[in-house]
Formats: sequence, structure tokens, C-alpha cells
Amino acid sequence: MQLLHQGLLCLTAFLASTNVLSNGARGVQGVAGQYLLGLGIGDITGPVVETNMMGYASLAQTDTGLHLRQRSRAWIVADANNDTNRVVFINADIAMGDTGVRRSIVAALSAEFPEYYNNANIALVSTHQHSGVGGYLENLLPQVTALGYVKQAADAIVNGTVLAVRRAHESLKPGSLSLGNTTVVDGNRNRSPSAYLANPAEERARYDYDQDKDLTLLRFDDESGNARGFLSFFAVHGTSLYENNTLVSSDNKGMAAYLYEHLVEPDSMPGNNTFVAGFTQSNVGDTSPNTLGAYCESPGEAWDGQLCEFEHSTCGNKTEDCHGRGPGFRTSDFESNRIIAQLQVDGAQTLMGQTLAPVTGAVKYVHTYLNMSYRQFELPNGTTVQTCPPAMGYSFAGGTTDGPGAFDFIQGDNSSNPQNPFWELVKGAVTPLPPQEQIDCQFPKPILLDTGYAHTPYDWSPNTVDIQMLRVGNLVMLIMPGELTTMAGRRMREALRTKLISEGVLGDDAYVVIAGPANTYAHYVTTPEEYAVQRYEGASTIFGQWTLNSYIDKYGSLVGYLADNATGEQPPSDPAPPDLSGKAISLQTGVVFDFAGIGKAFGDVLTDVRNASAPYSAGEAVIATFVGANPRNNLRLEHTFLSVDQFVDDQWKPVRSDSHPSTTYQWTRTDTVLGTSTVNITWVIEDGTPAGTYRLTYFGDYKPVIGSITPFVGHSSNFTISA
Ligand SMILES: *[C@@H]1O[C@H](CO)[C@@H](O)[C@H](O)[C@H]1NC(C)=O
Ligand SMILES: *[C@@H]1O[C@H](CO)[C@@H](O)[C@H](O)[C@H]1NC(C)=O
Ligand SMILES: *[C@@H]1O[C@H](CO)[C@@H](O)[C@H](O)[C@H]1NC(C)=O
Ligand SMILES: *[C@@H]1O[C@H](CO)[C@@H](O)[C@H](O)[C@H]1NC(C)=O
Ligand SMILES: *[C@@H]1O[C@H](CO)[C@@H](O)[C@H](O)[C@H]1NC(C)=O
Ligand SMILES: *[C@@H]1O[C@H](CO)[C@@H](O)[C@H](O)[C@H]1NC(C)=O
Ligand SMILES: *[C@@H]1O[C@H](CO)[C@@H](O)[C@H](O)[C@H]1NC(C)=O
Ligand SMILES: *[C@@H]1O[C@H](CO)[C@@H](O)[C@H](O)[C@H]1NC(C)=O
Ligand SMILES: *[C@@H]1O[C@H](CO)[C@@H](O)[C@H](O)[C@H]1NC(C)=O
Ligand SMILES: *[C@@H]1O[C@H](CO)[C@@H](O)[C@H](O)[C@H]1NC(C)=O
Ligand SMILES: *[C@@H]1O[C@H](CO)[C@@H](O)[C@H](O)[C@H]1NC(C)=O
Ligand SMILES: *[C@@H]1O[C@H](CO)[C@@H](O)[C@H](O)[C@H]1NC(C)=O
Repeated sequence: MQLLHQGLLCLTAFLASTNVLSNGARGVQGVAGQYLLGLGIGDITGPVVETNMMGYASLAQTDTGLHLRQRSRAWIVADANNDTNRVVFINADIAMGDTGVRRSIVAALSAEFPEYYNNANIALVSTHQHSGVGGYLENLLPQVTALGYVKQAADAIVNGTVLAVRRAHESLKPGSLSLGNTTVVDGNRNRSPSAYLANPAEERARYDYDQDKDLTLLRFDDESGNARGFLSFFAVHGTSLYENNTLVSSDNKGMAAYLYEHLVEPDSMPGNNTFVAGFTQSNVGDTSPNTLGAYCESPGEAWDGQLCEFEHSTCGNKTEDCHGRGPGFRTSDFESNRIIAQLQVDGAQTLMGQTLAPVTGAVKYVHTYLNMSYRQFELPNGTTVQTCPPAMGYSFAGGTTDGPGAFDFIQGDNSSNPQNPFWELVKGAVTPLPPQEQIDCQFPKPILLDTGYAHTPYDWSPNTVDIQMLRVGNLVMLIMPGELTTMAGRRMREALRTKLISEGVLGDDAYVVIAGPANTYAHYVTTPEEYAVQRYEGASTIFGQWTLNSYIDKYGSLVGYLADNATGEQPPSDPAPPDLSGKAISLQTGVVFDFAGIGKAFGDVLTDVRNASAPYSAGEAVIATFVGANPRNNLRLEHTFLSVDQFVDDQWKPVRSDSHPSTTYQWTRTDTVLGTSTVNITWVIEDGTPAGTYRLTYFGDYKPVIGSITPFVGHSSNFTISA
């Protein structure tokens, strides 16, 4: 994080060199007045301590504080001539969409705005970040490391997302849309190149890279052509921050959104901006932000520091030591995160500075549920194939170079030494040995977890997924329940574009993007050729080798619902997935009570900042330690656990919050029995910070043995920053 101020330096230089504050080219880019546009943002940060983090599914990755708050951002596009006809695109700083969270969001919005929002026109897309709060997913498999379901985490996502959409709704006004793309060459790298190479040579020869380098951007303008925000699509895993980070953050997509929004509104507190920058995930499956490649971290071994073995990404035949390196590797994963974020910001900036192609035409959407268990369909050549009930292959437990042994929840665990009480509780239900029908269906995947047959104590994996597409003018967004690999995404986009054109829905300007993982989390989607190789992505393609073709078939069959003359009526649907929330098991204990310690008060300073007579300068870290209380008592959504205050005009003015990348909030339980804890607040002073008098402020809430949760505030002593 030390280098974050360098990022701000770059931004400052950039501000000086371009007219970014006016957001580039002015003038009406689309057709004014055809659409009503709304943009909004909401805080979705769950409990930042004592809760497992989501993404790497590592039992050891329990959060201890906050780097950046997680947020949902929402974009509404309505047809100005019939404003009940609209689509809502939500980009949430979470690891993956979830059926239960989506159900609650849809229920809340359709209750509040019954004529406008429904199950079909709301898309819940995740940034697929791996440093957020876990425990919110409804299906059992992802809950294992999180000690089951954490209601507070799910509620924070639901409430903050509904708030983002409500704000977008309240901001609706006429405007125009425009669309373009650029390349971000250094922003990603293939983490399973040996699987990619299994695709036909002539197909690979059509592409310059084994990753998609395109960043597509949909710009939102008001009637005068002033930008209000954008939605961009670029495929790169949210794994810049490693599995050993325990500060809740939003990884490179959330960081990019912060950087861009800060550029436009430098005086707004993060999350209090009106310009909404969207960095949305795309066909992310085999992408990695660890662009330097994967190396062995095997101290003392001959292969230490060498590239991992190509086919299996192993070091001395083991996966555990093989780690991808991000571009800031020599400094820290936080620096890698900043660089990958900045590359996406630069791409978006390039497009926002150009005149893009106007988007005109109808607003349409289609949604249906699809049961993937033994779904039979015809391939284009007439052969009938089927998808299978979900199952995980052996390589699933091997993880990836971004997180070796990811989801390997039994690693290091055995019956005599249970590390994971949740696993112990449910493992009796695990292994209904797969029937022959399933073994044949999943072939050539060797089945490790037959999750599709595991329903006890509740469903391990979804059988039923959300199929959804949103159309605005010539842009069609395929809202996908899984993580498509690069080539799977290319086949999907191309097939759908061809179909949209051949069925007369769109003309030659048809533009198709993938957004996901969204709605229901259905793991990975490889090509059948990649599936045969069974790397992590193939082993995690849960519905078998024909998963991709099944999606191509199903999405393709629905393009007529996006036609100009479509009535808005929705297609027939398989039954919606069951609501499992009533069955959810949670082993996380609540906060019992907090105690300040004998002779101390909450918010007291234990270790202070330096005396005002010894000024700080840019690049230095200011740290203070306070008598703390458990932040699970109050998530302080839309607020902050800390501020940096500057003394100006005879009063204290907050100038940083807990969502500035230069600040961190860390909580430490010092005595479980007594209930004491401490909080560290750190601010790394950015270059260009004005000289003056400052202080650190801590906002907490304690839970007494008897009585209700009570807020308190603590201040460090004054300190000074020299010019
Ligand atoms: C307006 O759009 C809604 C939703 O698509 C549709 O049901 C309705 O029929 C439309 N109204 C008119 C007058 O076209
Ligand atoms: C979510 O909203 C509900 C209803 O307003 C409220 O009771 C609950 O405390 C909120 N939860 C969180 C985590 O904000
Ligand atoms: C980028 O835009 C150009 C011009 O519209 C288009 O030809 C090209 O296919 C687009 N690239 C992608 C990946 O969609
Ligand atoms: C975190 O993990 C990365 C990747 O394995 C490693 O390079 C780094 O040293 C680790 N950091 C700490 C603080 O252990
Ligand atoms: C957020 O912005 C609004 C309007 O610009 C302002 O009134 C409010 O004080 C801001 N809140 C914070 C926490 O900065
Ligand atoms: C890795 O496995 C191969 C094949 O089984 C074996 O030849 C080699 O010695 C092993 N390497 C190490 C370091 O164990
Ligand atoms: C899904 O399809 C399978 C195979 O046809 C069937 O056994 C199962 O009951 C279906 N599930 C639901 C929820 O309809
Ligand atoms: C149809 O295509 C599939 C997938 O490539 C292949 O397995 C099958 O043999 C083909 N069928 C025919 C009749 O060519
Ligand atoms: C369980 O793991 C521990 C530590 O790795 C090991 O000592 C013990 O033998 C294992 N027990 C069984 C039953 O494998
Ligand atoms: C809608 O338009 C398409 C293509 O122009 C046409 O094939 C189809 O029959 C029309 N559908 C209806 C319901 O009019
Ligand atoms: C908190 O800061 C103190 C010094 O003020 C330091 O000794 C301690 O290690 C820090 N704790 C954490 C969790 O960083
Ligand atoms: C901190 O600075 C403010 C503004 O200069 C001043 O009013 C206040 O007395 C100072 N507090 C201490 C403890 O020095």
C-alpha cells in the first residue's frame, strides 16, 4: 500500500494533461431523449472481522479489518416512450452472484416499485473479486469454509444493492448512450494455457492472444452530452489480492471504480459520488491478473523461483507452492491490484475521451430458469447430447495459480484432526457415490464431489440456473451464471451474434458482451476440448462437457424475445430454484460483549501519533491504536469506521474515510474471555497532501453485558504534515 500515493501522483499528472474532469468530448453522442437513464451506488460491506472471506474459499482467510468498502453500482435504462419497459444492470463488488441474494433483491425492488422491476429485468452481476466478506451464498458448497451462512453478510449485500437501485431510480432522466471498445493488452494473462492449446489450431489462429484484450464501454450521457457514468466489460480475475490478505477489499475492479470516480469527483467521499464508473467482469474463467506468470515459492528446493510446470502448474509435483505474480509483485499484491485497476481505468479513459458510436433502438430483456440436470438438446450437426447434474472433478481441489488448493476445504484436515467444524457436521452427507449414469455423463471428469446428488442437509450445488439477456439498442448483454473461459466466451458471443442477425433481431452492428458470474453461481464453463484436459476450470465445469453448447443452444433459442416486436412476455420456464435460506446452517457465533479494560474507556488512545512538534511528510504512515469494540456490532454502512480530519477554518473537516485506499482499519481481539480488543487506524500520506494540522478519528460501537449497542468516538492527538 506504500505505493498507493504513487498512483495518486499518476492521477494528478493525468488530470493536468487532459480534460478528464469534463469527461472528454462533449456533444450529444447518442440520440437524446430516447432513453431515461439512472445511476446509483450503495454500500454492501458485511462484517469486516471474524468472518470468512469469499473467493479463495480458504478456511484460514478470516477477515481482520477493512481496506476498501464493497459497493453495488446500478444502471437503469428505460425506454422513454414506455418507461415501464426498462432493464437494471447491477455490478456488485462480490465474488459471485447468488440465487438467494438475488431473490431477496428482486422481492424488495418489485415490492417497492411493482410496475417497474421484476424477476426478468434485474441482472445481478458480480465483479468476481476474492477479498470480500463471505458467508452470503445459499448453496452449501461455498458455505463450508465460511462456517455456514452469515445472515449479516447477505443482508448487507441485499440492503446496499436495493439502495443503489433506488438511488438509480430516483436519478432517472433523459439521456443518450454510446458504445466503443479498446484494448488493454497488459491487463490479463491466461492461467491455464495448456488447456487453451487443446482448442483447434485453426480456431486459435483467428485470435492474436490466448486472452480477450478488449474492453467494451457503454457510456451514459445526460441530455446535454455530459457523462454521468459508464459500464465497461473486461475479463480479468479479481485475484490481485492474495489469499493471505485479510483486509476486506474490492480487488482490481472495485479499485478501478474508486480510481475513476475519484478522478471525476475528487472532493466526494468514496461512495458519495454521483458519477458511476462500472468495471464489470466478463468471460473471466481462465484469466489471471498475475501477469508476470506463475512461479515456485519453494524455499530450499532446487526449483525455488522457477516457473511452475506447464501442464499441471506444480512445483516438485505439488500445487501448493505455485503462485502467480502480479505486475507489482516486487512491492506487494496491493501494488499489483492498483496497477491492474489503473490499466482498466486507462482503457475506460481512452474511450471516454473519444466520440463513440451512438446506441439507438429498443430496450428488451428475457429471463428464464433452466434445469441443467440431464438436459438433452441437439448440437447444430444434429447429434443429441446432454448436460449432467453438477459434479466437481479432482483438479477442482488443486486450485489455480491464483489460489493454489482453492476450495480445497479438506486439505490438511482429517477425522482425527478436524480443522473445519462445518465440514465435520455435513460430511456424512457428502459422498453419495455417483451412479454410473452420472459417471458416464461427466466423462472424462473423474468425480471428486458428486454435488448434484448431495442434498443433505441442503443442496450443495444449483441444478437450476438463471438464463438472462438484456438488450439496449444494438448491444446485447449475455448475463451468464458461470465463469466462461476465453475461448468459451468467444464461441458464445459469436454464436449469439450470428443468431441475432440471422433471425432479424439486429443488423450487422449487433454487439454482444458477456457479463458474469451473475445471478446463480454455476462455477466454470470451458469448451469441450478444454474440458477433456481437466485443469481447474474443466474440473469445475459442473454440468459436464456440453455445458457451453447447452448455453449456446438455450440463449440462442431466446433471441426472439429481444426483437423490436417482442411484447415483453417471458418464455416458459423450468421451476425456480427452491428457497434454501430457511435451511441455512450458521456456526458463526454472535458478539457476546465488549469490554474496554479496567480504568479504560472505548476509543481511548493506546498508542498515539507523533507529537505535533515532529511533523509527518508524504509517504509516511500515521498509525494510532485505540481501545476498540467489535465492528460486527454496527457495520456503519454508508458511513465509515474512521476518518482523517484536517483542521481548516477553525473546525475539523473529514478528508479521508475507511474507503480511501490510503487508509486501513484493523481490529484485534486481545482477550476472548474479557472481551477486550484494539483497533489500529493507519493512513499512508499521499503526495500532494496539504500541509496542516490533522487527527485520526475512530468510530466504534460497543455491546455491553446488559443494555444496547452504544456508539462512541475516539480521536488521536493532533499531528502535523509539513509542506
Ligand atoms: C410497455 O412496456 C411493457 C414492458 O415491456 C409492456 O408490457 C407494455 O405492453 C408496453 N406498453 C406499451 C403501450 O407498449
Ligand atoms: C437491512 O435492512 C433491514 C430492513 O430495513 C434492517 O432491519 C437490517 O438491519 C438491515 N441489515 C443490514 C445488515 O444493514
Ligand atoms: C470493437 O468495435 C469494433 C467496431 O465496432 C468491432 O468491429 C469489433 O468487433 C469490436 N470488438 C469486439 C471484441 O467486440
Ligand atoms: C502472501 O502470499 C504471497 C503469494 O504466495 C507471498 O508472495 C507473500 O509473501 C505473502 N505475504 C505475506 C505477508 O505472507
Ligand atoms: C455526500 O454528498 C452530499 C451531497 O453532495 C453531501 O450533502 C453530504 O454531506 C456528503 N456526505 C459525505 C459523508 O460526504
Ligand atoms: C515428480 O514426479 C515424477 C513422475 O512421477 C518423478 O519422476 C519426479 O521425480 C517427481 N519429482 C519430485 C521432485 O518429486
Ligand atoms: C431437473 O431435471 C431432472 C432430470 O430431468 C429431474 O430429475 C429433476 O427433478 C429436475 N429438477 C427440478 C427442480 O425440476
Ligand atoms: C457433432 O459434433 C460433436 C461435437 O463436435 C461430435 O462429437 C459428433 O460426433 C458430431 N456428430 C456428427 C454426426 O458429426
Ligand atoms: C491426521 O493428520 C495429522 C497431521 O497431519 C496426522 O498426524 C495424522 O496421522 C492424521 N490422521 C489420520 C487418521 O490420517
Ligand atoms: C417479429 O419480427 C420477426 C422478424 O422481423 C418476425 O420473424 C416475427 O414473426 C415477428 N413476430 C411477431 C410476433 O410479429
Ligand atoms: C497496531 O499498531 C501497533 C503500534 O501502534 C503495533 O504494535 C501492532 O502490531 C499493530 N497491529 C496490527 C494488527 O497491525
Ligand atoms: C488540536 O488542534 C486544534 C486546532 O489547532 C486545537 O484547537 C486543539 O486545541 C488541539 N488539541 C490539542 C490537544 O493540542
